[in-house]
Amino acid sequence: MITNLRSTLVEVYEEFSVKSTISGLKYTTLAQTKFGRCFWAIILLSFLGFAISLAMCSYKRYQSTSINMVIINTQYPMSMIDLPAVTLCHGGIVMMHKLISFLTSNPKRIFMPRGLTRADFENSSRYLREAIYPKNYFPDELDKLHQILSANRLTLLELFENVSANCSDFLLMCQLEGKTVPCSTLFEPVVTPNGICCAFNYENSQVSQRSNELLKRSNSARIGPHFILSLLMKSYSSEDRVASIMHGDGVKVFVHERNVYSLLEVVEFMAPAGHESVAQLTGTKLTSASNCMTGCADPGAENRYQNCYMRCWKSAVWELCGCQIMSGVPMEHGRQACDLPHIPCLARAAPRANSILKQEWQCDCLADCKSTVYGIAVATAPLNAAQYSPSPFQ
Ligand SMILES: *[C@@H]1O[C@H](CO)[C@@H](O)[C@H](O)[C@H]1NC(C)=O
Ligand SMILES: *[C@@H]1O[C@H](CO)[C@@H](O)[C@H](O)[C@H]1NC(C)=O
Ligand SMILES: *[C@@H]1O[C@H](CO)[C@@H](O)[C@H](O)[C@H]1NC(C)=O
Repeated sequence: MITNLRSTLVEVYEEFSVKSTISGLKYTTLAQTKFGRCFWAIILLSFLGFAISLAMCSYKRYQSTSINMVIINTQYPMSMIDLPAVTLCHGGIVMMHKLISFLTSNPKRIFMPRGLTRADFENSSRYLREAIYPKNYFPDELDKLHQILSANRLTLLELFENVSANCSDFLLMCQLEGKTVPCSTLFEPVVTPNGICCAFNYENSQVSQRSNELLKRSNSARIGPHFILSLLMKSYSSEDRVASIMHGDGVKVFVHERNVYSLLEVVEFMAPAGHESVAQLTGTKLTSASNCMTGCADPGAENRYQNCYMRCWKSAVWELCGCQIMSGVPMEHGRQACDLPHIPCLARAAPRANSILKQEWQCDCLADCKSTVYGIAVATAPLNAAQYSPSPFQ
C-alpha cells in the first residue's frame, strides 16, 4: 500500500518535472547519475530560497513604504523645524595686521632660513588661497613659505590660527532672540574646507550648551519683528586682506543641520561688507521609510550622507596624496595633515574628485532616512545708518 503510493508519487513527480516550465526541474529526474540529480536538486532549492528571501524583502519594503512613504511637506509649521547650525567663514584667511603681529610680537621669534627674509614671508603669504583651493599656480612662492614654516615647525593650520581673522576679530556684537550676549557664548572656531570658520549651534559644540540655555526653546521661528540671531560684523580694508577666499569683502554664511559638518551642498549666502543682510529661514522635513533594497541611514551624525561622502573623499585624498585634507571631519591622529608641498597633488586630485569617488572608491553612503532641508531668502541693503559709517572728521 505504502510502496504503491510512493511509486505513484514518484511517477507523478517525474512526469511533472519533465513537462514543467520550471527549467532545471527536469534534470532532477533526467540526469544520468544520482549525484547529478542531487546536484540539480540542491541548485533548485538554493535558488528557491533566494527567490523567497527577495520576495520577503520586497514584501517588507512594500509593507513599510505603504505606511510611511516619502513625505515632503512644505506646509510644516516653522516652530517644528529644528534651529539650524550656522557657520560663518570670513574671507580673510591672511590678514596683514595679524601677520605683522605674528611676526613681531610672537613670544617664539619666527626664524628665517638662510636667503629668506620677512618680506618673502609676507609676499608668499599672498598665495595661501591655494591651501583652500589648490591650483598649483604659484609653486615657487609657496615653496619659500614652506621653507619658513618647516624651519619653525609650524603647520599650515597653526599658521591659519595665527594669521586668519578669528571669531572675536570680526564678530562685534551678537544678539540671540533680541538679547545681546557675548559672541563667545554662541560661536566657536571650527576647521572646515574653507579654513577656520566660526560655528553656531553645532551638535557636538562646546558652547552650544550655553546657547541652548540662552535659547528658551530649541525650536526656531518667532513670527514678527524678532530675529533669532542678529550679528554685527567687522569688515577690513582691502589692504588688510593679504589672502582671501573670495574676491570681495564679506562673510560666507552656511546654514545646515546641526549634525552635518561637511559644508558640501548646504545652503549658503554672502553677507557683503557695508551691507545689512536679512536672511529668512524656511524648512522642509523629509522622512522616508528604511527599506531593505537600498537602505537608508540612521539619523546619527556618523551616518549622515554628506558626512559620509566627505569622509570618503578624505580617505580617497589620503590614498592619492598621503595627507589629510582640512574638512569638517575630525582629524585622525598620526596622519599627516595636508601641507603646502601637497598642493600639486591636491590640484590634480580635486577635479577628478567626483569620478574618483564614483568609480574607484565605493563609498557606500546611504541616503538619509530623515533630514531637514533649509531654505534661505536673503535681502540686502547698504548699511548707511550714521552710527555705522562715522565721518572722516570724527
Ligand atoms: C614683495 O612684493 C613686492 C610687490 O609685490 C615687491 O616689490 C618686492 O620686491 C617683493 N619682495 C620680495 C622679497 O620678494
Ligand atoms: C600660533 O603660532 C604658534 C607658534 O608661533 C603656535 O604655537 C600656536 O599654536 C599658533 N596658534 C595660536 C592660536 O596661537
Ligand atoms: C583672536 O585674535 C586676536 C588678535 O587679533 C587675539 O587677541 C585673540 O586672542 C584671538 N582670539 C582667539 C580666540 O584666538
